[in-house]
Amino acid sequence: MQEKKLAGEEAVQYIKEGMILGLGSGSTVYFTLQKLGELIKNGLLIKGVSTSNSTTAICQELGIPLIPINEVERIDLTIDGVDEVDNQFNGIKGGGGALLFEKVVASISEKVIWIADSSKLSQNLGNFPLPVEIIPFGYTHVLKKLESQHLNPKLRMKQNEVYKTDSGNYIVDLHLNAIENVNQLSSFLKNITGVVEHGLFINVVDTLIVADQEHVKTTNVK
Ligand code: 5RP
Repeated sequence: MQEKKLAGEEAVQYIKEGMILGLGSGSTVYFTLQKLGELIKNGLLIKGVSTSNSTTAICQELGIPLIPINEVERIDLTIDGVDEVDNQFNGIKGGGGALLFEKVVASISEKVIWIADSSKLSQNLGNFPLPVEIIPFGYTHVLKKLESQHLNPKLRMKQNEVYKTDSGNYIVDLHLNAIENVNQLSSFLKNITGVVEHGLFINVVDTLIVADQEHVKTTNVK
């Protein structure tokens, strides 16, 4: 918790007056939002584009003004969490189920900052199950296709019901242990009819902020 707080609060220094901000989702971003809420109370003017219903709810509580994504030309800066990041600075996201909106927001952002606790770092991606968002119609066939490729798909459940994303889709988590070729896997998944998006974020992050105990390390990737 302390590492998430440190990383989440560190990112706030990149926020400048007048920015349109992409606001990620999850327990690390929560600390960014808390700090951002304080700055707004003290007069900072920004507008946020939310990546999930849960982030929208937190923003409403904290008085962070939001603007619909379709009303912005671009996003100046997005701050988001990550589930796993490798030494090439590629990541897996979607543990919280918001991968689709997070990827759309990242794709129109000038700069993307990921904030992470030290447990998120790994040599190669795949320790964290890879989320894949799929449409409900025909989902059993998508599962079969993933099974036939030995990708160990597990339909995500929540309280004995199939988990639904903010878009009403399902998530399949691929238990891979190791991903040999992220680009190949990305193309394979994107080519399956019924797959909306996957949680591989390749060549997306500009700045990575990682908290390790009481130390915070910032890496400018691009
Ligand atoms: C949600 C995400 C989150 O960014 C990711 O799960 C990290 O979450 P946390 O900060 O709670 O560890 O991708 O879809």
